[in-house]
Formats: sequence, C-alpha cells, structure tokens
Amino acid sequence: MASTASIEILDLRHFAAPVLRPVLDAEGELWKQRLHWDYRSSTRLLMQYLDSHMLPGYAAVEDGHVTGYAFCVYEETKAVIGDVFALSSPPLDSQDSSLSGSLPGPRSGDGIHASARQLAPSAHQIEETLLKHLFETLLNSPQLDRVESQLLLHPSGAHAGIFREAGFQLFRRLFLVQTLQGLWNQPRVDLPGSLEMRPWRDEDLSPAGRLISDAYRDHPDSIINDQYRSIHGSQRFLHNIVRYSGCGVFSAPVSHVVVERISRRLVALVLGSRVSPESGHITQLCVHPEYRRRGLARMLLSVCAFHFMRLGATEISLTVTESNTEAIDLYRAEGYTCAHKFDAAVWQRESIG
Ligand SMILES: CC(C)(COP(=O)(O)OP(=O)(O)OC[C@H]1O[C@@H](n2cnc3c(N)ncnc32)[C@H](O)[C@@H]1OP(=O)(O)O)[C@@H](O)C(=O)NCCC(=O)NCCS
Repeated sequence: MASTASIEILDLRHFAAPVLRPVLDAEGELWKQRLHWDYRSSTRLLMQYLDSHMLPGYAAVEDGHVTGYAFCVYEETKAVIGDVFALSSPPLDSQDSSLSGSLPGPRSGDGIHASARQLAPSAHQIEETLLKHLFETLLNSPQLDRVESQLLLHPSGAHAGIFREAGFQLFRRLFLVQTLQGLWNQPRVDLPGSLEMRPWRDEDLSPAGRLISDAYRDHPDSIINDQYRSIHGSQRFLHNIVRYSGCGVFSAPVSHVVVERISRRLVALVLGSRVSPESGHITQLCVHPEYRRRGLARMLLSVCAFHFMRLGATEISLTVTESNTEAIDLYRAEGYTCAHKFDAAVWQRESIG
C-alpha cells in the first residue's frame, strides 16, 4: 500500500535563515523567470528577519527539511501576508537515502497537483496548508481587524479558493510590461506655465502622502490597501517604497513630481524602482483629481521610461487592478501588455453592534 509523506507545520521563529536558504533560492529563481525580478535583496532582508527569530509565520518541514514557508507582518490592527512558497517534492518512490538532502526543483504549486504516483504533498498543497495555519492564527487574533495579501508571484486563482473560504474578498490585478527598445527620444514636456516638473526629492515624501490620499479617495485600490485612505497611511506606504526599498531599489532619478509653481503644491507623481539591472518597476503613478485628463500621467510615464532607459533598463513593469479601467486604457495606449495576473485579497472583521 502506498504511504503519504507527512509534513509538519511549525512556528517560523524556530528556524534560522540557512535552513530556509534552498526554499528562498528556488523562489528567487521563479521571481526571475516569471517576473524578471532579482529577488536577492528581498532574500537578504528576509534572512535578516529570520535570523532575528521575530518573523511571524510558519515553516513546512518534511523529512527534516524545510520545504516551504509563509509569513506576515503586523501594522497596528492589520496583518499583511507577505509571502507563501513551497518546493515541489520528488515522487515518494524516487525518495531514497541518497536523495535526502538534495534540492528539489524550483516549482511552486500554482495549480500543480500530485499525480497518482506522487503521494508526497505537492507545493500547492503545502502552500495551502501554510496559508490555512496563518488564517487560523490571524483571524482568531482579537487585536486584528484586517488582513491584506498580494501574492504577486502566484498566478490569479492559484489560492483563490482557500482565501474565499476563509472570508477574504479577492481582486484580480495585472502585471503589465513595456519593452523599452527604440524609445530613445527625450520626451516632450508640455506643461502650462503654472506647473513645473522636476525629479523626486527626499522632502517630497510628506506632500506626496497628501497627494496619494487625495488621488485614491473612493478608488478600488484603497479597498485593497487601506494605507491609501489616509495621509498618514500613504506616507507609511511611501516610506516603505522610498526609504526601505520595499518594492525593488527606489530610483530617485527616474521618479518625478509635478508641482504648482506658485503654491508649490504637488499635483502628480511617478515613482520607480530597479527590480533587476534590466527591469524597472513603476511603484506609483497618480494625478490629483483637479488635474486629470490633461496628459500629465502620460507625460510622467514617458519621462520615467526615458530615465529608466538611460540607466540601462530594457523593460518596465507595473501592477494595476483589473477594475481600474482608466489606468489600463492609459497603459495599453503606451504599449504595456499583460504578462501575468495575480490576486489581492482582503479580510475585514465585521464590527459587532
Ligand atoms: C490613472 C491616472 C493616473 C490618469 O491620469 P491623467 O493625468 O488623468 O491621465 P492622462 O490625462 O495622461 O490620460 C491619458 C489616457 O489615459 C486614459 N484615461 C485617463 N483617465 C481616463 C478616464 N477617466 N476615463 C477614460 N480614460 C482615461 C485615456 O486613454 C487618456 O487619453 P485621452 O485623454 O487622450 O483619451 C489618474 O486618473 C489617477 O491618478 N488615478 C488614481 C490613481 C491611479 O489609479 N493610478 C494608477 C494606479 S496603477
């Protein structure tokens, strides 16, 4: 009779970084293949957190080896599920003593199910087990009233079922890519005399927070990310992007703002980060509602693309919520195409009384 390999789910804080290295390396490989993203700086940061034994989450252990992990971070009364990833196990009948300790291939679950012969849990099953443990912990923590998650690496639908079962609302998001070859001309900056455009400066962080909260009022993205709903939250989002390189390495030379000449009010911005030597990523683009449909976003996108190209990038990516059709129209018109789809998930505790 065939037997099934058992996995143990243990507190992530028990593990030091080196035992997770094979999992993180395999995940990094997938980030490179699927999104052209160099995951090494994220891996380094994650390993520092793991070594501090303070990162909340779970590890999957099979046969003495860590084969998957999931973690979250807490922001006051909210938790953000940062990641989940598991290695595919080799089939049980090929697991002998000579194989133990070898590195399984870099395949994440994403709908790959074990065949009849493969009785070891698939990466997909391990990821779902890890997520279920996280849900159980987070949704039963009375101090938490919200959980958000954007698992960028995992194709839309891959874990949708268990998120929905746990009471999450899902929003499909698109990963769009533009190739930069052939766009060598300096873009024309055609602004009315009352406005000027300039590169990002450190002191823009505070007014940019105000602009983001104005630009995303009643916007679908402020349902997905509640930081957009307040100036303080938007500034926190910006801190993470600009100061802590929370989404690639922030690039000030590609990032630009548009300001009113007299009042110095910031009315539009584009922010970019390097996610690999070849790839730039637009982490934010927004225009104040009073200044929309005047071509500011289109101009900022071209300026950002031009500066990315001067830094040697050959492509730019960005993410956009599927229901944000105005922005999608703009990106498509600029030559962006969809390379990947993923899900954002939100759970909100129902208030009592
Ligand atoms: C999306 C956004 C950045 C567009 O800024 P903008 O300066 O108004 O855009 P532009 O004037 O450069 O518009 C360029 C094109 O985008 C499309 N577009 C922009 N706004 C649109 C709207 N409300 N309805 C339909 N199409 C729209 C059109 O194709 C437009 O070209 P056209 O004016 O020649 O028809 C702005 O609406 C915004 O800040 N929205 C909230 C934040 C956001 O969604 N950011 C993007 C997150 S991924």
